[in-house]
This record gives sequence, C-alpha cells and structure tokens, in this order.
Amino acid sequence: MRMRKRHNLAPRMEACSAFLIEDPAAMRGEWLAAFPEQNRLYVELGCGKGRFTVETAKREPDALILAIEKVPDAMVLAMERARDAGITNVRFMDFDAANLPEIFAPEEIHRLYLNFSDPWPKSRDAKFRLTAPGFLRLYADALPVGGQIWFKTDNRPLFDWSLEQFRAEGWALSEVTNDLHQDGPVGIMTDYEVKFTAEGMKINRLVAARTAGTRTTAAGAVPRLRNAALGDARGRRKIQPPEDAVSLTPGTLSLYHALFRDFEQAPELFEDKSKFQPYVYDPAKVDAWVAERQARSGERRFCIMLDREPIGELVLKGIDPPSKSCAMGICLKNDRFKNHGYGTLAERLALRYAFEELGMETVLADSLLQNTRSQRSLQKAGFRFVSEDQHFKYYQISREQFTGKQREEQA
Ligand SMILES: C[S@@+](CC[C@H](N)C(=O)[O-])C[C@H]1O[C@@H](n2cnc3c(N)ncnc32)[C@H](O)[C@@H]1O
Repeated sequence: MRMRKRHNLAPRMEACSAFLIEDPAAMRGEWLAAFPEQNRLYVELGCGKGRFTVETAKREPDALILAIEKVPDAMVLAMERARDAGITNVRFMDFDAANLPEIFAPEEIHRLYLNFSDPWPKSRDAKFRLTAPGFLRLYADALPVGGQIWFKTDNRPLFDWSLEQFRAEGWALSEVTNDLHQDGPVGIMTDYEVKFTAEGMKINRLVAARTAGTRTTAAGAVPRLRNAALGDARGRRKIQPPEDAVSLTPGTLSLYHALFRDFEQAPELFEDKSKFQPYVYDPAKVDAWVAERQARSGERRFCIMLDREPIGELVLKGIDPPSKSCAMGICLKNDRFKNHGYGTLAERLALRYAFEELGMETVLADSLLQNTRSQRSLQKAGFRFVSEDQHFKYYQISREQFTGKQREEQA
C-alpha cells in the first residue's frame, strides 16, 4: 500500500490508544479470556485503513476482531474509524504477520481474513506473499481443524497461485469464485475492494478450511518456491502500477543526495565487465555534479518520485526551440525500482511535458545495446526504433505519434 508518512502519527495513535495492543505477545493464549463478552476470535492480516475491520466488528458483536498491520500510517486511520464507530470488540496491532506464533497459541484463532494481500510479483519475493506455504503453516498452527481462512483479492495471478498453495498444503477449499460481485455486492468490502469494484475489476474469493491433513509447522521444511513469478513469467498479465504512481519534480540538491545515497551501478550494463566499479556515495561529488548540471542550459532535469522518495532521474537535454527537438535520458537508482513500469510512466510524463509545455515536435532517445529493459520501456512509452550502431540503439517519437498513442490507450 502506498501511504504518505503522517507527521502527526504519534498524537493520532495516542488519541485512539484504547484500540491499540502494544504488547500482543503478553496476550498469547489469553485473548478471549481478556474479552469475556466475545466468544470467538477473528484475525485480519494487513487491515490497511480498516473499512472491512470496522464493518465486520459491527456486524459480529460476539466476535473479537484483531487487526494486524505492519504500516502504522495506514493503521491509524483504521483505529480512528473504530473509535468513531463506537465499537468495543476490535483491537489493532502494529505487527508483522510473519511473527504470528509469538502472539497466538495453537488453535486460538477461529477465522483468519486475508484481504487484498500484497502480491509480491517477483519469484524471489514469493515467500513474502501471505498465502505462501511458510505463512499457511503458521495459520494452520493457530487455527483448529475446521477453522477457516477467508481470502479475497483482485489479483488473478496471485489468486491462482494461492489456490495451488492451499491445495498442496492440504486445505479444503470452498466458495471459490473469480467474480464475487457478479450478481451484486456480496459481504463486507475492504477499502481496496470498494475502489477496484468501482473500476470494474473482478474480485476473487475463496474459503480454505484446515483439515486433519493440513500441513502445520510440524511438517518440517517448506517447499522451495521455484518459478513463482506472477504475471509475465506465467504468461499472464504483469501487474502495472497505477498511472499516478510516479511524478516528476525538478531535481534539487537535497533530492539528488537522497537519490545518490541509494544509487547502485548496474554491472550488466558494462560492455567491458572489468570496467565495472560499484558506485560509492560521496556527498562532495554529488554537490559538484549538481552544480555542474544546474549551470547547463538547454536542459530540464527531474527527479522521478515514488510517493516522497526520489527513485531516479529523468532529463530532457539538447532542447532546441528552432528545430523543436530534444533528447530524453533516464536512470533509476537501483534494481528495486526497475521492471515495475515506473520508468515507462516517468517517460510518458516527460513526453507530455516536452510536447505540451516545451512545444517540441520530436523527442529522441538512445539505449545501450545490452540494455534491453530500457529498450522495452522506451517502446512502451511510444518511442519508435530508428537505427543502431556498435554501442547504441536509437529511438524517436513525434508529437503526432505521442498523441495517437494516448488516444489509442484511452479508447
Ligand atoms: C494491499 S493492502 C490491503 C489493505 C486492506 N486489506 C484492503 O483490502 O483495503 C495490504 C496491506 O497488508 C499489509 N501487510 C502486508 N504484509 C504484511 C505483513 N507481513 N504483516 C502485516 N501487514 C502486512 C500492508 O502494509 C498493507 O497495508
């Protein structure tokens, strides 16, 4: 979830501290004893802003609803909602689901909700998915036989992958659907679900029940997750960031320092590998670099912002008003931000700026021959391949081609 940092987080948390469990480990095995008016325990992992949590608590007054969230900036909104709703059967924890056994005794949870869990699309990150076998075994420990997981997501590749994991781990599946709301709204919707459903996206849902054969942590090592990428590796839709995921802002000295502090040189881009040197952040060199760039004319330099974090630089250079042409260059600060579509979004924003604000008619770009990722990104942004030499591929896009592509995408 992309959240803005809430500067007034501490006082806001304090104002609804009655809903916060500060030391959940102290409650292990004692949850229902501490809430004598409730007779069953429902746990939601990754409650976000808490629409589902609060509505479920209202609808199920006999159940104690425990919402777990590792991003307090989101959770504070959920806590405020609970306070404003005047309910007493819900509590929140700033906690990582990976540590579940620290706070729940075996078979203590009656039902577990996983709503719109983060997809972690890369294969190497599959173990972080809340439906990965490692997590399913923690849940199996904490649920009795017959205890259920209710899982919903808009993400079909994640849903299909999760189905495979539940099956392989011995859970009994029911209520499996790829279009939960096809005949009208069903059940309590989460914040994400309200948004996605309004956008016409289909919601997947399943219920998984623990059986006598369900694997718990006692089953030993979890299976290795090979080829577990969601999306392209399985020939399915790759998850694209929303159009407004990134923005461009003029590069300032402090933004460039933030950018270069995390910069990593990509060894694969060196034709001659012996020339590769890891980048080492040196504040004085960054100061000099920025001063030199700011003195140049005919350039516009932007930091590519993901929320408040500068993740790369985009430059329009060689801006030549008589010929109405310029060239675009882009770099992202490290691998964490590559291959997510952020570069393409930034390129589109810059193209709009070049055509609409600078009055350009043509924008050029080039890419090292071995940088196939950048070539794909340029083509997705609308650039056309023009030529290549020993070192580079050359691209360009005209105003007409850009507006044509925009019209195509809107149709
Ligand atoms: C995509 S959001 C969905 C939020 C909410 N369930 C909804 O549907 O509106 C996923 C949430 O799960 C939280 N989350 C992801 N992994 C978690 C973990 N291991 N432990 C606790 N929370 C987690 C994230 O911080 C985020 O707020």
